[in-house]
Amino acid sequence: MADQPCRFRAGLRHWHPLLPSVQLGRRPHRRQLCGQWFVVFRTASGRVGALPEACPHRRMSLATGKVRGEMLVCSYHGWQFDADGVVHCPLMPSAGLQQPALQLRESHGLIWLRQPLAGEGAPPPLPEWPHSDLLCAGITVHDVPAPLELTLDNFTETEHTTSVHQVFGFRDPASVQLRLELEPSCTRVWNRGPQKPFPRLFDAFIDIRPSDHFANDWVTRFEPPLTVYEQTWRSRLGTLRRFRLRVVLFVLPVTDQRSQLITLLYTPRLLPGPLHGWLAAPIVRALTAHELDLDVRALAQLADRNPELSPRTLGPFDRVLLENRRRISTLYLGG
Ligand code: FES
Ligand SMILES: [Fe+2]
Repeated sequence: MADQPCRFRAGLRHWHPLLPSVQLGRRPHRRQLCGQWFVVFRTASGRVGALPEACPHRRMSLATGKVRGEMLVCSYHGWQFDADGVVHCPLMPSAGLQQPALQLRESHGLIWLRQPLAGEGAPPPLPEWPHSDLLCAGITVHDVPAPLELTLDNFTETEHTTSVHQVFGFRDPASVQLRLELEPSCTRVWNRGPQKPFPRLFDAFIDIRPSDHFANDWVTRFEPPLTVYEQTWRSRLGTLRRFRLRVVLFVLPVTDQRSQLITLLYTPRLLPGPLHGWLAAPIVRALTAHELDLDVRALAQLADRNPELSPRTLGPFDRVLLENRRRISTLYLGG
């Protein structure tokens, strides 16, 4: 499929996670980011390469090619590409063709991509987040049929959790204590309130109760949009539950109108009940993926996908959305 003009195109200079490392075997994968299609492949020695998807010869999708040794071989006329983008054409061995350079990294179980600017120096560091104290229970990927701004809106307000979510939410937005801090490099939001009622099935797996007090605190940074949530529960007596979640969520612009969520889930290494040991990761992953599915379903039902906000109709939980707009504009649109 051809690249599309995209208002987020300038943001390719920032590192973005493209896909989980475990998804990339010997078969090339195609991915779209900021309107551009890329093919990602892993060579026999384990090196990861990324190229524009269209072969520079006659535009075949390189995702239909095969990896042989250290080369990706185009399925149409057999031109070959190494992980640095050097092109080897069997009929013109000294042509010296080179595909645009893309930078790649593998870290935190993800493959990261950026497009360097001409003449720039060393690449910027990858985004970081706290993780060594908890176990990574898995990575999920969700496609969202909504633009970056509206998708990030959903994940930076907690008012919707009462109506949209089944477990991870507040009983009533009116009883949530909300605090917001805007810092030069991030926004911080604290939310505290009674946990919403949830189906009895869930408390067989996690030691939270519908009578608990829920805290959902997060920090959003913008290189690319990355929100780290710390979710904890306390009993009526104020005892901290052993179950807690750290959710690291990237919201990526795929096109002007579509986004992708890449989410890393972290839990304590030791949990009570059936969540102890090897069962912990799959259950936490399934539960969180289900809650994210509910977010995606809500976003898919928006009647209007225009990212403009009307400040007149915003509520107290939406104050941060205007700030998000400003920061997205700086990151992606050069505003
Ligand atoms: S289109 Fe790829 S080698 Fe011809
Ligand atoms: Fe949500």
